[in-house]
Amino acid sequence: MELKINTYPLGARPEVTKPHPDFINELGEAGIRTMVSRHYDLLRQSSIKHLFPEDDQEFEKAKIRSADFMIQICGGPDYFNQNRGRPMLINRHNPFTITPEGRVTWLECYRIALLETKLPEYLILSFWDYINVFSSWMVNSKE
Ligand code: HEM
Repeated sequence: MELKINTYPLGARPEVTKPHPDFINELGEAGIRTMVSRHYDLLRQSSIKHLFPEDDQEFEKAKIRSADFMIQICGGPDYFNQNRGRPMLINRHNPFTITPEGRVTWLECYRIALLETKLPEYLILSFWDYINVFSSWMVNSKE
């Protein structure tokens, strides 16, 4: 299965499609939390680790925030809105310098974590399509 990384011009806002509802039905909330945890652990070993909390406790909290969001966007309970309020993810990413290369690294870590779920191909592709497109919205710096 090929999970390609699209390229977009800075500031483009390509249309986003949410993951297929079967994604959370098959993987479950716990499975999403495991996938997000793996993604963050990979980020912590990557060239963009400086963006994420160094402190272990803070790092675990970041995993929770991210998993809350992913569960919500996949059609599960709105944990993120309950805990953090409206997502406004572009604003929340603005304090961090996110370059096109940073986005590629972020997606490469997700590719590993996502494939490890062992879900059927159509569900892997559906989640990948969502993050592949939406991650371009977070890029806020050329370099
Ligand atoms: C383009 C690549 C991306 C990079 C480099 C990136 C980086 C970051 C960083 C540094 C943080 C703050 C630390 C943390 O709370 O983990 C963060 C927070 C977060 N990111 Fe991203 N992110 C990217 C894309 C995305 C995408 C595509 C989504 C959603 C699909 C997302 C969802 C979130 C959420 C929900 C938070 C927590 C916000 C909060 O509650 O304050 N990120 N991200």
